[in-house]
Amino acid sequence: MKKTSFFLLFSSVFLLWACSSTKKTESSNNTAATKIGEKTTPTPFINPESFNISKDAARISSPNGKNQLFFKLDAENSPVYKLIRNNKIVVGDSKMGFQFFDGDFNSSFEVLSIEKISGDETWKPVWGEVSEIRDNFNGCIVHLKHTILGRIMDIVFEVHNDGLGFRYVFPEQDAKNLIIIDESTEFQMVNDMKTFWIPGDYDSNEHIYSTTKISAIDNKEYKTMEVAIHGMALHDANSTQTPLTLKNETDGTHLCIHEAALLDFPAMQLVVNPKTLKFKAVLVPSTFEKIKASVNTPFKSPWRTIVTADNAAGLLESKLILNLNDPNVLEDVSWIKPQKYVGIWWDMHVGTATWDYTATQDMGSWDNLANKKPHGKHGATTERTKRYIDFASKNGFDGVLVEGWNIGWEGWFGKMQDSTFSFTTPYPDYNIDELSKYAASKGVKIICHHETSSSVTSYDKQMDKAYQFMKKYNMNSVKTGYVGRIVPKGEHHDGQYMVNHYAKVMRKTAENKIMVDMHEPTRLTGLHRTYPNFLSAEAARGNEFNAWSRGNAPEHETILPFTRLMGGPMDYTPGIFQTNMSAYDAKKTEKVHTTLSKQLALYVTMYSPLQMAADLIENYEGKPEFQFIKDVAVDWEDTKIINAEVGDYLTIARKAKGKNEWFIGSITDEKARNFDMKFDFLPAGKKFKAIIYADADDAHWDTKPAATKITEMNVSKDTMIKIKLAASGGCAISLKEF
Ligand code: NOJ
Ligand code: CA
Repeated sequence: MKKTSFFLLFSSVFLLWACSSTKKTESSNNTAATKIGEKTTPTPFINPESFNISKDAARISSPNGKNQLFFKLDAENSPVYKLIRNNKIVVGDSKMGFQFFDGDFNSSFEVLSIEKISGDETWKPVWGEVSEIRDNFNGCIVHLKHTILGRIMDIVFEVHNDGLGFRYVFPEQDAKNLIIIDESTEFQMVNDMKTFWIPGDYDSNEHIYSTTKISAIDNKEYKTMEVAIHGMALHDANSTQTPLTLKNETDGTHLCIHEAALLDFPAMQLVVNPKTLKFKAVLVPSTFEKIKASVNTPFKSPWRTIVTADNAAGLLESKLILNLNDPNVLEDVSWIKPQKYVGIWWDMHVGTATWDYTATQDMGSWDNLANKKPHGKHGATTERTKRYIDFASKNGFDGVLVEGWNIGWEGWFGKMQDSTFSFTTPYPDYNIDELSKYAASKGVKIICHHETSSSVTSYDKQMDKAYQFMKKYNMNSVKTGYVGRIVPKGEHHDGQYMVNHYAKVMRKTAENKIMVDMHEPTRLTGLHRTYPNFLSAEAARGNEFNAWSRGNAPEHETILPFTRLMGGPMDYTPGIFQTNMSAYDAKKTEKVHTTLSKQLALYVTMYSPLQMAADLIENYEGKPEFQFIKDVAVDWEDTKIINAEVGDYLTIARKAKGKNEWFIGSITDEKARNFDMKFDFLPAGKKFKAIIYADADDAHWDTKPAATKITEMNVSKDTMIKIKLAASGGCAISLKEF
């Protein structure tokens, strides 16, 4: 058949779909007709034409034709979209829109017009996993008018080769303020896919992942099972957070539902109907339970995103989230630097030191500090900080994080008050003047710490002074933290109020030329493209949980890159060499659920431009494995996914930016695995010296975590080696050209 007849055939299929529900029949009310197990009707071919737009419906193909978006109004005149990939439905008919305080805004629309859009440009991130990113899409803007409320809304669709993004735009109009009480966006799945999920929680992303079919998503158990997260707010039993990753086990298609550019809006979570497999958006509420968002027109919602991939590796290669975010808005970025750091930190998590100075819990007044009696276990002392600075300087680290340097830690946990910490007053045994000079003399920067304990009103008030204080003492990176319940009471970590707060922190730190790493914010949505001073964040269950809770299961690190990290980097804090907490206290049973080699591999598999060597510096003394942490890069020119299976294993090779050096990380879940590692990504005709840090033959995360075998060899493009990963093991390789 010729191209034109293909097109005619396709056009009639499209017209049939577009018209299918404009006739008001009873069955047409059921827009999500696909039942579990029902075969999806494949379109007959990949249509070579990118755009097919009628008066009130559209079909748009991605540049390579693999993804196809369909848009129409259904029988209720609700906006409906559908996504087809490789000729199969991946998201069936799904409604869109909102509910406003003063009426529904998800039906009774008319299409005013549909505009074509497309783009193809290549841009360079300030830092990242690759040095160049192509942003190539076809799309459309659907201009809608609500026939009852008279308000207008555009839906912008971008169809990329790696997925779909759409956002709601409220142009300037008579309605100046819109109160949103619900979002109607749906994601109608058509197969009972395997999902990797954490429960819908308005306040925490620090959960252990569950792996189930969509129809089995039920998070009731988390209520009793999870005791280590302070201030959870679980909601609907069938709710999950995003990024939500799904795998079709029959054909290998992977999807990841999330959002991009979350600004001035609550985070989107999802609730699924286990029978119909339909996910619906849930917006995190604010103090007034019923109100989810209040926005002023003109307004653009965050993008709703569906990354599509033929396999797990494809998910990691996707740049959809970054491409949908706005370009960098900072003019001067010369001060922004990917970095490695050590810190006075793990000490407090394992209990060998404390954040607080007196532990009397009676700091009530911050006056007369000198009269307070120290208990002698305070971690952030001048002397210990100097030792960390020396260590950082000697081993080529850029920064030293110091937690517990400022007053307020006495009984900080769960206080829910407006005046817990001062961000400008050091404890008496922390001589900041002396330390800032000492650090400068050693070419190291102190990383400031602002644990807010979620007293956000207090942080807001102190912010300007806190950043001035940092500048005065030559600090240009800050780690923030939001442990516990938010003040003002009733607000949530993932609600609109806090989303605006995180944005304010991003902007204000940028104005002050400060890089920021946030712990316990909402999960990332690619905003680090726009604000590249936002280096990293936690927003998931980090390594710290291994120190004082039942920890992170061996599979945890093989899930995170495909879920939470789809939105941006994570400060996972790898590099724990003493994985057994009984080393600190014989009564302790907690442990890190990995081998030491896996801790090394995480520097490559868990992407972040900010990486901590998280263990006590004493634990690195005399350890040859530490060389890998010293060598590994934090900014990359290129990234190759060697093998990947969500929840099972992952191997990544990355090329350091501006250097002929590659680093490889390979990790597995609780299962030991072998595979053949080829170096065919290396440039032809070049030789590299490889140092291989592998699990020893008898290594096992539980019984022999530190058993590592280090070998050196020369490799080139044609070399192949056998890699053996222990149970929850890993392998890290550095390659330098010679
Ligand atoms: C939780 C953070 O994740 C951790 O890194 C920090 O040490 C504590 N809060 C105290 O701020
Ligand atoms: Ca945390």
